[in-house]
Amino acid sequence: MGNERSTSEKKDFEKLLRLQVEPCEYFNDLQIHDILSEHRKEYFEKVGEWFKFWSLEPDKVDFPPKTILKTEGVKGDFRIMPCQIRYEGRNINSIKLVGTNEEEKVVKDKITVGKAFLYHPTDNFIAGIFDACVLSSVRTAVCAVSAFKHLSTERRSVGILGCGRIGYYTAMFLTLLDGVDEFVCYDNNPEAIENFLELTSEFDIQCKIVGSVKELIDQSSSLFISTYSRDPLVSKEDIEKGEIKFISSVGADCNSYSELHPTVASLPGKIYIDVWHSLKCGDLRSWLKEGTITEERMIELKDVISGKYTPDESGCRLFISTGFAFTDAISLDFIYQKRKNPESE
Ligand SMILES: NC(=O)c1ccc[n+]([C@@H]2O[C@H](COP(=O)([O-])OP(=O)(O)OC[C@H]3O[C@@H](n4cnc5c(N)ncnc54)[C@H](O)[C@@H]3O)[C@@H](O)[C@H]2O)c1
Repeated sequence: MGNERSTSEKKDFEKLLRLQVEPCEYFNDLQIHDILSEHRKEYFEKVGEWFKFWSLEPDKVDFPPKTILKTEGVKGDFRIMPCQIRYEGRNINSIKLVGTNEEEKVVKDKITVGKAFLYHPTDNFIAGIFDACVLSSVRTAVCAVSAFKHLSTERRSVGILGCGRIGYYTAMFLTLLDGVDEFVCYDNNPEAIENFLELTSEFDIQCKIVGSVKELIDQSSSLFISTYSRDPLVSKEDIEKGEIKFISSVGADCNSYSELHPTVASLPGKIYIDVWHSLKCGDLRSWLKEGTITEERMIELKDVISGKYTPDESGCRLFISTGFAFTDAISLDFIYQKRKNPESE
């Protein structure tokens, strides 16, 4: 076989072609979970600081709207999400390449698949490769709970609709906030409920399981929705009857999903969003197309956190996220900074 080389021949060849190794670390989903859950409090607080930084120094943060591509005849999509941040004298450059796995022909029951990459700040090689499932779920949950921290007027009884990965991480960050007494939970898959109860048993907070969305709304003062529902789950009437004071909807991050009924668009007040680009997909996109909302009603969460905008709705405050590259970049940087560096051991 022509390509077989001895070790010394390989070395000679590498030298002739000047093929230096690019140091790169790989982080799997479980390692990412371990780092972010171990340092959850610091991470949660840091995310707040980063949002404030972005609001006050927007010129130091660059990311184009995510590119969403589809393959004809295949359910789901794949996405390209780069981001560049100049933060406290450091360059944080990242890109996430993820897919929405609706076909599940090879990988089962994992909706967000793919990898994220952290570039070396000066030499531009890839210094870290990260599984994207846990990363995406955690950064979405931290964003939803940050919105709750700054928008909620009532915290006692928190409803969790969709008890999957994002639902679990949402519960994890909620335990960091004062005033949250219990979780009321609903999922239409009993196995998901069982897993959720086992995962959240370490949090020392009461989880009440209910049998329908209606019961959930009746017994909660706020609602975190993270499902892959194709049909709306909550209407304006539900919110008003249930006296819901805060809703976070993060699951409808593509155009075939929907969590909120179009009537929700007619709630009075602003609509709080993770980023402007979220108007391009999910429920917000449909509402904008139908003309039930205008861009003027949108407020980015970062401007609430920094104090540039003060919410004043007395009724339900609505937060909608479809995800963006900034929260990926800051989370990748956090994980990378917190890793156990083998060279320092
Ligand atoms: N906004 C963002 O930034 C962002 C990031 C990552 C994922 N997502 C989206 O969030 C959603 C959830 O992601 P995940 O990783 O938590 O998925 P998951 O599969 O771990 O959890 C989703 C849960 O929702 C439940 N569910 C689905 N439809 C339901 C319904 N009609 N009623 C009650 N429960 C229902 C499922 O049984 C499941 O337990 C997906 O649509 C995903 O694409 C959004």
